[in-house]
Amino acid sequence: MWDERYSETGFAFGSQPNDFLKAEFARIPKGGRVLCLAEGEGRNAVFLAMQGYQITAVDQSSVGLEKAKKLAAEQGVTLSTTVADLADYDLGVNQWDGIVSIFAHVPIALREKLHSQVVGSLKSNGIFILESYTLRHLELEGMGGPPAEKKDFFMSIDKLNDELNGLDFIIGAEIDRTISEGKYHQGQSAVVQVVARQP
Ligand SMILES: C[S@@+](CC[C@H](N)C(=O)[O-])C[C@H]1O[C@@H](n2cnc3c(N)ncnc32)[C@H](O)[C@@H]1O
Repeated sequence: MWDERYSETGFAFGSQPNDFLKAEFARIPKGGRVLCLAEGEGRNAVFLAMQGYQITAVDQSSVGLEKAKKLAAEQGVTLSTTVADLADYDLGVNQWDGIVSIFAHVPIALREKLHSQVVGSLKSNGIFILESYTLRHLELEGMGGPPAEKKDFFMSIDKLNDELNGLDFIIGAEIDRTISEGKYHQGQSAVVQVVARQP
């Protein structure tokens, strides 16, 4: 599905970074190593590389990551990319100054495993930044997010608090906001936003 979507002309979620990431990225230690999970076509990874971070972008879609590398080259920066299912991807231990998860919706069992690895793989003072849709999004008119029947793909602040146990939350909130990201994320939307630090 994602290779097909990313084969369309243009960028599914635009070529500009996610608003929340753009507002909060500077909390990540300057020049550090940053892992972008489920990075798709690279808008967030390229933005962070342009701010001087060393970026690794992982996604299951080779088509998406090829576009990410092209976007990076156009902007005069480089990315390390890995095509992988997050179910098989090893985040390592004490590796990252920052981990970014923007609309990385996966089944709950995988998400729990992934977030447990996020906690173990952030260095001390490393920062985790996440924005994702909540179930309330299904009541709003905005376009984006997992299909309604995949309820366990949606996130909530209560559940993220559990999954990310060990990190200190700087921001942890469910809000409604207007999103305008390419043709697939548009309109009034319900999201959860997290910025959390490894002690
Ligand atoms: C809504 S898109 C978000 C892309 C990017 N984070 C952004 O904000 O532009 C979701 C992404 O998750 C990726 N994805 C979903 N399940 C995955 C998995 N199990 N392993 C790796 N990537 C996955 C898809 O390929 C897709 O690129």
